[in-house]
Amino acid sequence: MSSLFPLTQKERENRIVWASVRATLEAFRFKYKRNGKKSKSKWSFFERLLGIFVIVLKIIGLYKLGIENAKRIEVKTLSLVISGLPDHFNGYKILHLSDLHIDAIMGLEDIIIEKIKSLDYDLCVITGDFRKQTTGGFKQILPAIEKLQKAIKATYGTLAILGNHDTFRMVDRLEEFGIRFLVNETVAIEKEGQTIHITGTDDTFYYYSDEAINALENQTDGFKLALSHTSELSDVATKNGYQLYLCGHTHGGQICLPHGIPVIAHQKGGKKFIKGLWQVNGLKGYTNPGVGVSGIPLRYNCPPQIVLISLL
Ligand SMILES: [Fe+2]
Repeated sequence: MSSLFPLTQKERENRIVWASVRATLEAFRFKYKRNGKKSKSKWSFFERLLGIFVIVLKIIGLYKLGIENAKRIEVKTLSLVISGLPDHFNGYKILHLSDLHIDAIMGLEDIIIEKIKSLDYDLCVITGDFRKQTTGGFKQILPAIEKLQKAIKATYGTLAILGNHDTFRMVDRLEEFGIRFLVNETVAIEKEGQTIHITGTDDTFYYYSDEAINALENQTDGFKLALSHTSELSDVATKNGYQLYLCGHTHGGQICLPHGIPVIAHQKGGKKFIKGLWQVNGLKGYTNPGVGVSGIPLRYNCPPQIVLISLL
């Protein structure tokens, strides 16, 4: 299925170089961060802790509740006033999905489809983490993602970026379903002679490369939306005149204390980036707590979200 935003020859050439770099980064057990590489060994330790946590939850009778919570998806509607938004984009609606981890909960795609079927939106964006695991194959996600993409009725299609759980190998396969990935790329959306620009970066939580920053340093004017798996490039987006930044990754903590206080959020940028709306100078951002789960298929005090944004 073809996208409304076909790849340019230059993008095709760049992707060949990008894929070879990403393949190398994926082959090693390091997190490649903006400030250098770090070991992934803490994640294995974290997974062992989760195993103990699950046993405790089963003993105290809270495990089933966690599973039910993870399937109880909220639809969050937001109206964002954006200065400089072109007139014809007033009321433009973006469906924001993040952190599907679609193979972590059997049938999650059907719950999402049921939730979005009555929503109206112009564009869908998916900010990474299609898969449960961070390594291995991805064929297990294909039927669910294809089904979901068929149910997404967006006039301007679906744009997506990779998360730290994803592999470069899934891009071509998912694009066959009509999802257009933005791999450090920018697309222009035109409406009645007016244009907005959307730039998507590769994941920078595990697979940082300077190309992600370079992509945000493009010289486009007017309204600019950045899509990145984490909030960690918000400073770059601010410097480069972006008005909106959509991300995910944190799951809002996923396992939270009462009042949504996360136990762990897997990010160090500051509390304001853990979940929901934030602002850095002229840049508005939203950290989507995700529609899926990772690690364990449970949520407490942190409902999964589908986010519907109206630009005003
Ligand atoms: Fe995630």
